[in-house]
Amino acid sequence: MERLLLRNIDRENSNSIETYLSNGGYLSLRKALREMSPGDVIEEVKRSGLRGRGGAGFPTGMKWEFAAADIKEPKFFVCNADEGEPCTFKDRLIIEKDPHALIEGMLIGAYATGCRYGYIYLRGEYPVGRKILERAIGEAYDKGFLGENILGTEFSFDLYIHSGAGAYICGEETALINSLEGRRGEPRIKPPFPVNAGYLWKPTVVNNVETLANIPLIIERGGDWYASIGSPDCPGPKLYPVSGKVKRPGVYELPMGTPLSEIIYEHAGGIVGDRKLKAVFPGGASSSVLTSEEIDVPMDFPSLAKAGTMLGSGAVMVLDETDCIVRASLRLIKFFRHESCGKCTPCREGTDWLVRIVSRIEEGLGSEDDLDTILDISSVMENSFCGLGMAAHNPVVSSVRKFKDEFLKHIKLGRCPFRRS
Ligand SMILES: Cc1cc2nc3c(=O)[nH]c(=O)nc-3n(C[C@H](O)[C@H](O)[C@H](O)COP(=O)(O)O)c2cc1C
Ligand code: SF4
Repeated sequence: MERLLLRNIDRENSNSIETYLSNGGYLSLRKALREMSPGDVIEEVKRSGLRGRGGAGFPTGMKWEFAAADIKEPKFFVCNADEGEPCTFKDRLIIEKDPHALIEGMLIGAYATGCRYGYIYLRGEYPVGRKILERAIGEAYDKGFLGENILGTEFSFDLYIHSGAGAYICGEETALINSLEGRRGEPRIKPPFPVNAGYLWKPTVVNNVETLANIPLIIERGGDWYASIGSPDCPGPKLYPVSGKVKRPGVYELPMGTPLSEIIYEHAGGIVGDRKLKAVFPGGASSSVLTSEEIDVPMDFPSLAKAGTMLGSGAVMVLDETDCIVRASLRLIKFFRHESCGKCTPCREGTDWLVRIVSRIEEGLGSEDDLDTILDISSVMENSFCGLGMAAHNPVVSSVRKFKDEFLKHIKLGRCPFRRS
């Protein structure tokens, strides 16, 4: 497939404005401002079928339509560049290698929705990205793409960077907004949704980095062209970060809906040492695990939901036959326990109990009753306040369901069968 999202990354000085301009950069902004009304831009994005790449897969055009319809002012446009999910490293590539694609996408989105100010909420652990973005924003101001009366029109937009302080929950859009306001990074109740009551309780669009990098392409080549790529229900190019026991870990740009088996065996080169694949977490750390028999699934939102898991950020984590699934699920739930903000009981207590129980099983001190307790706890966690708690138990519960024998082996042997000593 032609490189679309990653079209610039191999160019010399790929993150400079000169490189971006020499490859048609900011022509989509020009087209949107000079030839299209805000409503036309929203229609084009709706026609494209673009769904958000931050995890929830919400239709981008619809989100913009809601924000555009709200008359409160000023409105804000926020780029979610928090990227805190373990094994997700796709947005970083755009931030560091092609920051102007993200800025141009934000500008077009802000024009379409009537936003006057923008923030890039950047993962605190991306200091290199921050320097690159600072330079890129300065270049965009110098060329007149940011600031007052952009390209001689009535559209004005100022853009700022805000670095997070290392909390995964601040990637959740309402916790992000709280953090941006200087409050504790905890989610807010929804509704009202940020498009109506977000930053400073004003209409606020929150979009992921990868989502925004698609926008200049859609305006340049049209929504119909975009909708013809990949899965009909969920089109476009997609960045899949692949990690774990594959020969060639990395970020792969492929049409949405590419089979998981193709991603692992053709693009990422198959399993290290040609060992057997054991399990895959197909959509980030909170996705339910798939077995080796289940990997022919198309990697898009509806297909993975049908398969009982989710696309999430699209981060593929591969385990081979030498990996212990009990230890892998323990590692993941430990992450969520650490990152739980503590606001609600099911998540705060549930993640802690899951860590305690899976730890004792992993050490060979568990009992068969523990497996039922895990399922009970997870059904309570489904009622958590936000997506973190609602999904945190998925890797553990799906591992218990699909690899029950391995959990029982730990219990019967009184030790981990994968440990040498
Ligand atoms: C716990 C949690 C963490 C999240 N982290 C991120 C993140 O790092 N980046 C992101 O874009 N979206 C993240 N999201 C999703 C956002 O809440 C939101 O749906 C997204 O930024 C909207 O942008 P999109 O429509 O372009 O996908 C997270 C959600 C949850 C529940
Ligand atoms: S689910 Fe977890 S992260 Fe979300 S509000 Fe509750 S405690 Fe906080």
